[in-house]
Amino acid sequence: MTAAVKKAVVTGHPVAHSRSPLIHGYWLKKFGVDGEYGCLDVAPEDADRFFRDFSESGLTGANVTVPHKEIAAAACGWLDEAAKVMGAVNTIWLDDDGRLCGANTDWTGFLGNLDQRASGWDDDAGTAIVLGAGGAARAIVFALLSRKFKAVHIVNRTPGKASRIAEEFGPRTFAHSWDNLGTLLEEADLLVNTTSLGMTSKPSLEIDLSSLPESALVTDAVYVPLQTGLLKQADQRGNRTVDGLGMLLHQAVPGFERWFGVRPEVDDDLRALIVRDLGGAT
Ligand code: ATR
Repeated sequence: MTAAVKKAVVTGHPVAHSRSPLIHGYWLKKFGVDGEYGCLDVAPEDADRFFRDFSESGLTGANVTVPHKEIAAAACGWLDEAAKVMGAVNTIWLDDDGRLCGANTDWTGFLGNLDQRASGWDDDAGTAIVLGAGGAARAIVFALLSRKFKAVHIVNRTPGKASRIAEEFGPRTFAHSWDNLGTLLEEADLLVNTTSLGMTSKPSLEIDLSSLPESALVTDAVYVPLQTGLLKQADQRGNRTVDGLGMLLHQAVPGFERWFGVRPEVDDDLRALIVRDLGGAT
């Protein structure tokens, strides 16, 4: 008897745009793993049932994307520490007892990207400015606190959302409105955009970087386009920059290892493959 081929999917709504099948497909081929990875669109009204009955799906595991990250977390019988804090999962699997388990790897994706592309970026771990207060911001605040940043300032259009994150994450986090940004930038060692501004088809991120020290690192969670307006502007004034694609690539690593038993690497060929798929936008 041959063992069943392990199969995983990315599930969300919509999900056809997801680059996860390309990423996992690359690794399946590279490591010669006899597995499959596809896309599964689950309508919001079916999501709760889908995750609660996951053990009957025939799947080994899944990546979970918008808008199902919270509903999937609620269906899990076990969550890792980050998923508990964020109330959201992006990676799920079944344990030996058929129990649905969930992890949030967006924060390790953020760290893996900067560790790979901006070595020494957290040596001084001073002051970080995070623009936005959605799910990506929560993961990034969690990541920065894990690397001992002394102050993480969350700047958001809706101040109440930033305040909620700051209250939850404790004394090293501070909430602000956009009005404070100019002053905050003077102290920044790291500036991160987690808003949807600057994304293709969204409004651009209009921001005055003149008070930002030249030594600060600037990064963007947006990766379509790869070279966002923020990164271009930062680059032109001499700041070190890192685009957001690596966060997507690195967040995929733990899922692949969990489902298929091999820890993959984010290498140049994988990055080039996804950049080509994005239309070579740089
Ligand atoms: P994600 O989970 O991917 O982080 P999200 O929860 O939709 O996405 O969060 C998007 C972020 O972009 C939010 O911080 C949002 O600000 P609000 O909390 O005020 O909605 C921010 N954002 C989106 N459009 C914006 C705009 N036009 N101006 C300023 N901020 C914007």
